[in-house]
Order: sequence, then structure tokens, then C-alpha cells
Amino acid sequence: MEYLVMLPGPTNVPNRVMNAMLAPIINHRSQDFRILYKSLVEKIKKTFQTSNDIILLTTSGTGAVEASVVNLIKKGDKAIVPVSGEFGSRLADLIDSWGGKAIRVPSPYGENPPYEKIEEAFDQNKDIKAIYAVYNETSTGTTIRYMDKLGKLCSKNGTFFVADAVSILGGDELPVDKWNIDICVTASQKALAAPPGVSPIAISERTKKYIQSNPPSILYLNLKRYFKYYEENFETPFTPALPLFYAFNEALDIVLEEGLDKRILRHKLCAEAFYSGLSALGLPPFAREDARSHVVIAAKYIDGMDDKKFRALMSNEFRVLIAGGFGDLKGKVFRIGSMGEVNKYHVTRTLSSIISSMNLLGLKVDEDASSAALEKTAKIF
Ligand SMILES: Cc1ncc(COP(=O)(O)O)c(C=O)c1O
Repeated sequence: MEYLVMLPGPTNVPNRVMNAMLAPIINHRSQDFRILYKSLVEKIKKTFQTSNDIILLTTSGTGAVEASVVNLIKKGDKAIVPVSGEFGSRLADLIDSWGGKAIRVPSPYGENPPYEKIEEAFDQNKDIKAIYAVYNETSTGTTIRYMDKLGKLCSKNGTFFVADAVSILGGDELPVDKWNIDICVTASQKALAAPPGVSPIAISERTKKYIQSNPPSILYLNLKRYFKYYEENFETPFTPALPLFYAFNEALDIVLEEGLDKRILRHKLCAEAFYSGLSALGLPPFAREDARSHVVIAAKYIDGMDDKKFRALMSNEFRVLIAGGFGDLKGKVFRIGSMGEVNKYHVTRTLSSIISSMNLLGLKVDEDASSAALEKTAKIF
């Protein structure tokens, strides 16, 4: 029996999207490809709510994150990075390793740094080149709810605003132009419900000009090449993963057919059902209420819940895949990817499997708690 994939990526991929990969291979230097690529770009623009340029990389999300650093940061450039989990920390380390100077604004995991702390760092460093923010910190299940303010702050003096939206585009608000995001990166395999392997980047006009005049001396992730090939021929400089492009095209059709507003609301309702359901079972959400993600649900383990045993039961007995914690959170939390295709049945099956697994671990969940746990799933359309 197939797994129900409730990981924070990759997620369940609809058959319609998987089947799209069976289409025959075409020449990536042909009109067939140009038509496909142009249509992909238009759909990605709608999903990002942007009129900015789009580049589609054949990489996982990390490739796009790395491209956002190596094309913008030069030796000695300062960049502010809110750090509230593994992905923020990795991003700051990447900036440092590329010769930049990351100014980390940390917060305890499960929270976001207060906006004022970022503003303070910004005011103290007049020569800040960029703010890099992980919009949804997948390792802790937290979402920054002041992205719009960061965009405004950056626009005060021409600082670049870069967003890692790898785990959130398609599952929550992300109006790239309205929020003044200069570089916004995402990936196919999370809230967009496509297979892993392609990563779009939206890039503002002024950032494009900067990159074109100051290209990095690298080959594959050199975005200047991507702009050139797109502008001259609607092509990519290197061989794209064609079957993944077909699949992504289909996945974006599904996103746009559903409509962003409806899709975002569905994610919100599913997240609410998870948070209230897990709380009813005595499993507290890890993230503080004002920072809780609508796409990655992290919950704390209680005594008697061993991470390995619990997730093995979920996977082997109930065919439901969920994730454990990262780094310091290993063994302390589990994480559910409530993203992409997530619906009422997914939430119900996941919560029911959690109840059964807890019972198998000898935790004896009482009947009232079980029915309370499932109560909110009725609200999901
Ligand atoms: C916020 C964030 N950034 C970057 C990445 C890296 O993406 P990938 O694993 O696709 O390379 C992830 C993956 O989970 C992520 O959640």
C-alpha cells in the first residue's frame, strides 16, 4: 500500500502530475521546449504574484538558496539573517563561507526574533547589503509574520530583500511584488506538490541588473547565463530535467485551477485541525502561537513517546510518513508536512494513526480525547 506522505517535503504528488512525466523527451533547444518554458514561467509568476523575472533551476531547493547567495554577496558584504532554526543557520553559514558577513539575529527555536531586533541591527549597520529571511523555518514549524515589514525596511535605502520560501509557496500568503522581495526562492516538492528537482527563483529588475553587471565567476548557478538564455531564446543554459518540468507544469495548473486564496485557506484549516487535534491528545505544538506555521506542524513528544518507535509504528503499521526533529530537536519533536495536496482525509488519517500509535506504545489515549482530536477536521472543505 502506498504511503501517505505527510513529510515537510517531499509531499504527496497527484497521479495527474506523475503521469505528466511519461510524455516523450523533446529537444531543449526547440520550439516545443520554448513553449513549455514560457508557459511555466507565466504560471510561476502568477503563483509568486509577481511581474519579476523567473529562473527555473534543475536543482533541489538548496541550489536556489545557494544561487541567491553566490550571485549577490561579494567579499565583505554584510547581510542580516534572522536565525530561528536549521535553515536560517545554514543560510547564515553559507553567506559567511562565501566571504560575506552574516549578522545573525537569533531567537529561541519555536519563535521568531522580534521585528524590532532586526530593525535595530539594520539601523546599526548602514552598509547592509541584504536581509535574508527564511519565511517558513521548516525545522521548527515557524513562519515569519512580518515579511511585509522587512520588505519596507529594505526599500528605505535600497537594501536587497531575499526570501527563502522553499517550504511555503503554495501554502500561505506570498505576494512577492507587494512585499518588495528582490529574490524569492522556492522548490517544487513541498507546498506545490510536484516531485523534487526543480526550483524557481523570482528576481526583481534592479537585482537582475546588479547580477548582470557583477556576475560571479562560477558556471552552473551563474544567473547571468540564465537571463541571457531566456532573453535570447526562452531556453535554459544547461540541460533542464525535462520530465520534472512537465510534472511541474501540471502541478502549477492544479495550483491555479484551485486558486491561491482557496488553497491558502485549505492549508490554514488543515493546520488548525492539526494544532487543535494534537493539543487534545496532550501533544503541545512546539512553536509559539504567533509564529505557528500553516504548512509544517511541529509537536513536542511526551514521556513514553520514543521518536524512533513512534515513527516506525506510523510508517509500518499505518503507512503514514512523518518527520523527526533536526539537531537539538532530535527526539524531542515530530514534524508533519501539512502541505500541497493536504486535505480533510489526510488530516483525519494522520491524527487517527497518531492515536493508534500512541495506544500501541501503551499511552492509552482516552475516547474523549480521541474524538476531540478529530473534531476540527470536519471544518476542512
Ligand atoms: C526552508 C528551507 N530551505 C531550504 C531547504 C533545502 O531544500 P532541499 O532539501 O530541496 O535542497 C529546505 C528543505 O527542507 C527548507 O525547508
